[in-house]
Amino acid sequence: MFQPSIVHKIKILVFSILCSNSFAQIITIPIETKQNALVLQTDAENRLGIVYFGKKLSKTSEYTGIWNDHKYNDVNAAISHSVYTPSGSWNMIEPALTLIHADGNTSTDLKYVSHKAEKQGENVLLIRILLKDPVYATEIMLFYKTYFAENVIEQWSTIKNNEKGNLKMNKYASANLYFIANNFYLKHYHGGWGREMKPEETKLTAGIKTLDSKLGTRANLFQPPTFSLSFDKPATENEGKVLFGTLAWSGNFKIDFEKDSYYNLRLIAGINSHASEYVLSNNQTFKTPSFIYTYSENGKGEASRNMHQWARKYRILDGEGSRLTLLNNWEATYFDFEEQKLTGLFKDAKKLGVDMFLLDDGWFGNKYPRNDDHAGLGDWQENRKKLPNGIGYLVKEATKAGVKFGIWVEPEMVSPKSELYENHKDWVIRQPERPEHYFRNQLVLDLTNPEVQDYVFGVLDNLFNKNPELAFIKWDANATIFNAHSAYLQKQNLPQTHLYVDYVKGLYKVLERIRAKYPKIPMMLCSGGGGRVDYEALKYFTEFWLSDDTDPLERIFIQWEDSYFFPAISLCNHITDWSKVGIKYRTDVAMMGKMGYDIVVNNLSEKELLFSQNALKKYVELKGTIWHGEMYHLVNPWENPIAAMQFVSQQKDHAVMFSYLTTNRFELSFTSKPIKLEGLDANKQYKVKEINIYPDTESILAKECIYSGEYLMTIGVNPDITLKRTSVVLEINEAK
Ligand code: DGJ
Repeated sequence: MFQPSIVHKIKILVFSILCSNSFAQIITIPIETKQNALVLQTDAENRLGIVYFGKKLSKTSEYTGIWNDHKYNDVNAAISHSVYTPSGSWNMIEPALTLIHADGNTSTDLKYVSHKAEKQGENVLLIRILLKDPVYATEIMLFYKTYFAENVIEQWSTIKNNEKGNLKMNKYASANLYFIANNFYLKHYHGGWGREMKPEETKLTAGIKTLDSKLGTRANLFQPPTFSLSFDKPATENEGKVLFGTLAWSGNFKIDFEKDSYYNLRLIAGINSHASEYVLSNNQTFKTPSFIYTYSENGKGEASRNMHQWARKYRILDGEGSRLTLLNNWEATYFDFEEQKLTGLFKDAKKLGVDMFLLDDGWFGNKYPRNDDHAGLGDWQENRKKLPNGIGYLVKEATKAGVKFGIWVEPEMVSPKSELYENHKDWVIRQPERPEHYFRNQLVLDLTNPEVQDYVFGVLDNLFNKNPELAFIKWDANATIFNAHSAYLQKQNLPQTHLYVDYVKGLYKVLERIRAKYPKIPMMLCSGGGGRVDYEALKYFTEFWLSDDTDPLERIFIQWEDSYFFPAISLCNHITDWSKVGIKYRTDVAMMGKMGYDIVVNNLSEKELLFSQNALKKYVELKGTIWHGEMYHLVNPWENPIAAMQFVSQQKDHAVMFSYLTTNRFELSFTSKPIKLEGLDANKQYKVKEINIYPDTESILAKECIYSGEYLMTIGVNPDITLKRTSVVLEINEAK
């Protein structure tokens, strides 16, 4: 039970109120972070509801009375503020939980039983709340993990079948929240291949607005489980009340925003229940994925920095560590390479100055060589014609050339033209009676099957066994799930409706095994662009590929949006030949994250090469601030003809500002006003200087000027952007 002595920032407030003919004990549970509080309270019938979400009060005892000042007491309306809304009993609105009990009954009610808090280190507290149906033995446990300093709450639930027989779950949400405000503005994202993270902001009206995916594997190709929600009015960068939320799940998800009859907002987030009824046998427990959120009353900038700090410290693999710069051969060669060409590229990588060479798609398959994207996936043996001496030889040659060696895999997928498909058709997700339907000419392996899990683990394990010096893995996943059917589930007599869920669980099992054996190897989460990124997958990956669209102008917009939710250290930005924009612009854009190259180094002119070599050297000096510092979105390209972002070191002694022209229109093409910097120390003096200057060009900002932090944050600095200076990077160093 709850022990006050181990409690960190949580108090149970218990008081009694007079009910019609009995005394009911009212329990109040404040779940607090440094700035905010989510307050739960039982009602006279012992059901637990959310009575407050927002800025925390200094007197915790005042939480107890909040609900008395709200008059949501239409007896015929639903109870809409439940912490976990069941269905089939009193509830008439969107449920968080829909069960079919072992006896076939479809009604559930949930009452508060107990709760306890467990301190997990100085900053982290885990609160468990047990709810039970008065009629059925099934138990629901709600988990709220608070990260105090970062103002982040991670929330999930477990459902334990204590009934004598199977319990069917039709809906099993991770989180059910309730927000009270005058209006709600939802900013969400949509897109497709090469055009990820297109934002839309909309005022929520009565009814339900749903964000969801039914794609199976790379679930967020069309829509990510990531959003921001402003209260009262749309939040700006530094003003307004805003919640950032995201579901940590790499499969189908559903997030409902329901405006109730009191004009308040209910949020229900979790695995998409579409075609996913899940059956629990007696004594089995199901754990939902985490819903992660942070709230700020000082705008989107603060919320994003909360997320970044949390992600670096608690979530992303090696989030506070280092990363490798690299030269990738995908856009330089596509499938057209052989040993000699590659060893030439190693030398190019060295000449350029990156840490590593990354060999992309096309190195495998013999009976069905992977010479284009129609064949070979699944046959992970070196192609003897292209690579007669195998990967081992390449690793050695790369080492000789002075760079590390990394490799691309897509182990969850199979080409119909492959030996794997020929030998193990039953490992493939397909409907035997229907014609196959392909996504990028390939199919998905059935990760619900433990044999397939072994096989996928084996793909990486074999590579590492044979080549212990392998330094990096790019893990791709291009196809979605069509014709969802698992031969394995059928054989096991398990429902096919488990497929979407057990696929993702199978993937996590494989990743767990990989990380148990290879805890440190950096891995890029890639999915034909940003089709798969979430905070569960990022437990196993050090970084992710935002989009195949590497046109720098497009990337400014994509990176602008992704960087609200994910820190720069996790964003893989490559300089490619996708666009003909000058190398300086491309480099400056790629620098705002983890920089890499996908170019033919030999095609660079002398000046371009010199610029790139110098930029890589400069990046070594800047990367600490970019990867581990605080990020500020200074000028929004969706609203202005320029974009500007800034990174500030934790000690506030170093900063870098990136600014870009995002229009061709002469009239709009210069920065008439200075750009105000943020996050500096007003009392410090700073030297400001332009960097990344293209060889043989001049800049009036190239000479160091000294300003106070106060000046830079109040008046600002003008980067002097023009049609001739379309990207300008300023370095800001404390003058000591
Ligand atoms: C999709 C990825 O996004 C690309 O970078 C590249 O790795 C290709 N797949 C290879 O097929």
